[in-house]
Amino acid sequence: MTQPAFFVEDQAVIEAALERLLPSETTPPPTIHQAMRYSVFAGGKRIRPILCLEAARLFSSERDGAATAGCALEFIHTYSLIHDDLPALDNDDLRRGKPTCHKKFGVAMAILAGDGLLTLAFETLARVNVDAERRVRIITEIATAAGTVSGMVGGQVADIEAEGKTVDAAGLEYIHRSKTAALIRASIVAGSLAGGASGEDVERLRRFGEAIGWAFQVVDDILDVEESSAALGKTAGKDQAQSKATYPALFGIEKSRAFARELAARADRELDCYGERAARLRAIAEYLIVRRT
Ligand code: IPE
Ligand code: IPE
Ligand code: MG
Ligand code: MG
Ligand code: MG
Repeated sequence: MTQPAFFVEDQAVIEAALERLLPSETTPPPTIHQAMRYSVFAGGKRIRPILCLEAARLFSSERDGAATAGCALEFIHTYSLIHDDLPALDNDDLRRGKPTCHKKFGVAMAILAGDGLLTLAFETLARVNVDAERRVRIITEIATAAGTVSGMVGGQVADIEAEGKTVDAAGLEYIHRSKTAALIRASIVAGSLAGGASGEDVERLRRFGEAIGWAFQVVDDILDVEESSAALGKTAGKDQAQSKATYPALFGIEKSRAFARELAARADRELDCYGERAARLRAIAEYLIVRRT
């Protein structure tokens, strides 16, 4: 499924900013900077920075702050992938179409590259060019979403502890909303804040982000069943092999697809009051459901 045309333009903004923000490969100690760059530039879709940029666009033509925050989100996301792939977690060899960070650089350097990216993310957020009060709100939003209380790390804990166990719908909801939806929601909220939104606008976009973030992980589960490793750039069929708690495992593919569509429709309704102005956010939500990679 082809991505919306404006992705190319947003991706170019983000690639250039990532390039500027990451220490060069020769910066001492070179190994870790090579490992960080290897994983960041391995070819991700950049969904989180794009959501951040496009949420900001709804409220402002000034996108500098959102681009910087978007890079921080991509650093956190990439760290989460590096650690997710480690032998002690999902034990994956392939990521973004390349050998995983620990396959290429060893486990110790992969752990440290993740640590380095997470730390660089907050150094980057401290420099987001918006007024100080908004900057603090953005940092708080992203830190909470990446953390242990209904955030990404908490979700990863629940995901690992659910392996091989029977998980009910509420348990599955907790895993998906925490490990994936939280950071996607934070990407939209951070973008809206960087764009100058306040009050009810931020809350609407928060609900939009929560719904598409949840749908995003449901679709990730479906693609793990339906697609090939070559198409995904990561090992397909792994969730079943590792007895992961997923929507297809609990509900089957058809019900999972219907649920992802229902979440996308829920997200779409939050944008009603913006009309045509929200066309790009609507296009992203649609793409996240129909994507094949
Ligand atoms: C994969 O995220 C991990 C999940 C949270 C489902 P993406 O599908 O956004 O991965 P990249 O960034 O495009 O590689
Ligand atoms: C991982 O979920 C979500 C993260 C926080 C990294 P998965 O384990 O399903 O992600 P993939 O399929 O390996 O990308
Ligand atoms: Mg995982
Ligand atoms: Mg995984
Ligand atoms: Mg997956």
